[in-house]
Amino acid sequence: VPAPVASFEAFAPVNIALCKYWGKRNAALNLPVNDSLSVSLGNKGSTTRVAFLSDAQADEVYLNGSAVNRDSGFYKKVVAHIDLFRGLVPGCLRVDTVNDVATGAGLASSASGFAALTKALSGLYGLGLGDEQLSVLARLGSGSACRSVYDGFVRWHKGVRADGMDSFAKPLPESWPELRVGVLTLTGEEKKTGSREGMQRTVDSALLYGSWPEQAERDIARLEHAIVQRDFTLLGATAEQNAMAMHATMLASWPPLLYWQPESVVALQKVWQLREEGVPVYATMDAGPNVKLLFEANSTDDLAQVFPEMDIIVPFL
Ligand code: PMV
Repeated sequence: VPAPVASFEAFAPVNIALCKYWGKRNAALNLPVNDSLSVSLGNKGSTTRVAFLSDAQADEVYLNGSAVNRDSGFYKKVVAHIDLFRGLVPGCLRVDTVNDVATGAGLASSASGFAALTKALSGLYGLGLGDEQLSVLARLGSGSACRSVYDGFVRWHKGVRADGMDSFAKPLPESWPELRVGVLTLTGEEKKTGSREGMQRTVDSALLYGSWPEQAERDIARLEHAIVQRDFTLLGATAEQNAMAMHATMLASWPPLLYWQPESVVALQKVWQLREEGVPVYATMDAGPNVKLLFEANSTDDLAQVFPEMDIIVPFL
C-alpha cells in the first residue's frame, strides 16, 4: 500500500557508455536493439527534489534554480514522467533539479535527470520500488537513464518482451578505482539532431547499421572480460572502437549524420598521437561533438599537459 510523503529528494549519477545504445526496436517504450554497458560517474549527476503542491493547477519545474517554461519540451517530458505515477495520488508537484555537470558539458544530464526523478517519485509516492522497476521506469523517460539508477559498471539488458518489462539495467559487481574519465568540452553548441531522431534516421536509412547489433554483442563480451581481468588496454580499445563504429553508422545514414566538429577531430588525433608515444588513453563520443577520454590515474599528469582544459572525473570514489 503506497504511503506518500510530503517531499522526497534523490540523486543519480551521469553515465558514459563504453558499448553504446544506438537504435530502438520500439520508439514509444525506448526499447533498444542492443544491450549496452556503461560506467556511472561517481558524484557527478542530478539531485532532484519533488514535493506535493497544494492548490496548484499545473506542475512547477525548476532546473538549477530557474523556473522551466511550460511550453518547453523539457517541461512536457517531466510532466509526462510524473503522469506515470500520478494516478496513485492526484495533485500537482514541484520538481527541483540541480545538475552537477553544466548543460552543454558533453555529458548527458537527461540520463541522470530521469533516473533521479524516478527515484524521487518512487519515494514521494511511498512505493519503495526495487532497482529493476526503477530502471524500467527511468528508461521510459530516456533510454540511457535506465543505467543511471546504479553506480559503477552497468549493463542494460535489451529484453525480448513487447511490453519492455524485461528491458532494464543491472550493475556489475566489479569496481576500478584507478579508472578516470576526462571530459573535453570542445563546444557548448546545442546539437541540431537529438538522439531520438538520430537513432531513427540511422535505423531507417543506413545499410551499415545491419552490422551494429553484432558489433555491440562482441564489444560487450570484450568489455565484461576486460572489467573482470582489469585489462585497461582491452577496455579502452573496445570502448573507442565501439564509439567509432556507432559514428560510422550515423555517417552512413541519409541525410548523413555527423555530430563531430573540427575540434573533435583535433582531439581524437591528439589521443592517437599520445597512444603512439606510449600513453594509454582512449576516446569515446556520444551524440554530440565533445570527446571523453578514458585513462588510469597514473596517466593523469601526461594528459593534463596535453589537455589542460580537461575535466577529470573519478567514477569509483
Ligand atoms: O538515452 P538517449 O536517448 O539520450 O540516447 C543515448 C545515446 C548515446 O548517448 C549516444 C549512447 C548511450 O548509450 O548513452
